[in-house]
Amino acid sequence: MANILLIGNGAREHALAEAIIRSSHKPGLFAYMKANNPGIAQCAEKVKLGGYGDLRQITDFARESRSDFAIVGPEDPLNNGVVDALKSAGIPAVGPGKLLARLETSKFFTRNLLEKYGIPGNPRFRNFTSAAGMEAYLDELDAVVIKPDGLTGGKGVLVQGEHFETPREALTHCRDILTGHPSVIIEEKLDGEEFSLQCLSDGKTVVATPPVQDHKRRFPGDSGPNTGGMGSYSCETHLLPFLNEQDVKTGLEITQRVADAIYRETGEHYRGIMYGGFMVTKSGVKLIEYNARFGDPEAMNILPILETDFVDICKAILEGTLSQGKIKFADKATVCKYIVPKGYGLPAGHPDAAAASSKIEIGAIGNARLYYSSVDKRDDGIHMTSSRAIGVVGIAATLAEAEKIAERAAGAISGQVDHRPDIGTRELIEKRINHMKAIRDNTGDGR
Ligand code: AMP
Ligand code: GLY
Repeated sequence: MANILLIGNGAREHALAEAIIRSSHKPGLFAYMKANNPGIAQCAEKVKLGGYGDLRQITDFARESRSDFAIVGPEDPLNNGVVDALKSAGIPAVGPGKLLARLETSKFFTRNLLEKYGIPGNPRFRNFTSAAGMEAYLDELDAVVIKPDGLTGGKGVLVQGEHFETPREALTHCRDILTGHPSVIIEEKLDGEEFSLQCLSDGKTVVATPPVQDHKRRFPGDSGPNTGGMGSYSCETHLLPFLNEQDVKTGLEITQRVADAIYRETGEHYRGIMYGGFMVTKSGVKLIEYNARFGDPEAMNILPILETDFVDICKAILEGTLSQGKIKFADKATVCKYIVPKGYGLPAGHPDAAAASSKIEIGAIGNARLYYSSVDKRDDGIHMTSSRAIGVVGIAATLAEAEKIAERAAGAISGQVDHRPDIGTRELIEKRINHMKAIRDNTGDGR
C-alpha cells in the first residue's frame, strides 16, 4: 500500500481523488487544499488546508503523511515550484518542476520552443517586451490574438473581433499588458475547432488520452465572456465528431516532439501531464497553448472512464516506464456540465454578478457522477462561493444518452445556479461539424 499526496481543491482534483482511491493498490490519500472540498475530504485519510505558495507546509505534510509520491492538480503550485520543493525533500511528484512548468506559465517559452526545434503547430507570432515595432506587426497580420506572458487563469487572452476590433485598440491593450507583464505575444488569429488532448508524459514516452472539447464561453450558443470552462464532452469512439484520427495523431506527435525538445533544452525529463489545446484549421492542426496539468473540466471526462489503474500510471510516469504498458479507457461517451452561481464570469458591477455565497440543494442526480469544486459544506448544507460549484458528468454508450444523464443531474441542483444546457446536444455539435466541414472543404483536401 502506498500513500499519495494530492494537491488541489477543485472538481478536477475530486476526479483525481476518486481515480486514486479506486486503485487496486488501496493507497492512502492525503489531500492538501487551499479550501476544503467535501468530495476530496471524503476520499482522503487526512486533509491539510493551506496556501499553494506555502511550500514548507506542503513538504512537511508530505513527510508526515509518509507519502510515496505526490500528484499536483492545479497550475499555481506548479508555478510556485512545489515539485522542486518535494523533490528536495525526497518525494517524487507527478507534475513538472518550475522550469518545465513554463510550458504553461510562459506562452513565449512554448512558442519559442516549437520554433527553435522546428516543431509544426505555431501560428505566426512575435513576442514584444516593449511597444517598439508593435504597430508595424499589427499591420502585417489580418486579425490578431494578444496574449500576456504569465499565468492569467485562462482569462487574459484578447481576441480581435471578440474583445476588441481595430489595430489601434490592439496597440492600447498591448501597452496596458506590458505595464503588468514582462512581455506580450501578438499572434495570428486562427479559425477552426478546438480540442483538448491531455497527454501523459514520463519525459521519453508521451501517451494521449481521449480528446475532449471544452466550452469556455459563459452562455449557450458560445456567447458571453470566457470562463474557466462551462463543460465538456468526449465520444465513445475516442475521437470527436469533427476530428479524424490523423488530427489526434498530429496533436500527439507535436506533444512527443515538445517533450523531446524540453529534454534537449533543459536536460530534465517532463514527468507529468502535457495538455495541448489544439485547433484544427484550414492549414492543419495548430497549437493554441499547453497546460502543465489536467484540464478542468476535461479531467472529469477521462478519469472516470479510465480502465487502467491510475496509481500504476503515476508510477510509470515517475519511473519512466510509460512505453511498457497500454493505457485503456472504456468505449463510453461523457458529458460534463458545470453548475455555477448565476453571476459566475460576469463583470463586477453587473446586476447578476456573483453573490458572495448562497445555499444550493442537491436533489436526485440519477446515475450521473458529481464532482465538487468551489463549495463550502456548512452545518445547514452546501453553499456556493463565487466560482464554478459542481461538475456533473453523464457517462453512457452514446453522446445523446450521456448528455441526457448530465442534463437531468444539472436540473436536480437548485438555488441561484446556472449551467449551459446546450453542451453535448446534437444542435451544438452539428454546428461544430458544419464549421469544420466548411473549413476543410475550403482547403480542397476533402477530409
Ligand atoms: P488560451 O488561454 O491560450 O487557451 O486562449 C483562450 C482562448 O482564446 C482559446 O481557447 C481560443 O479560443 C482563443 N485563442 C487563443 N489563441 C488563439 C489564436 N491564435 N487564434 C484564435 N483563437 C485563439
Ligand atoms: N479547460 C481549460 C483549462 O483547464 O485550462
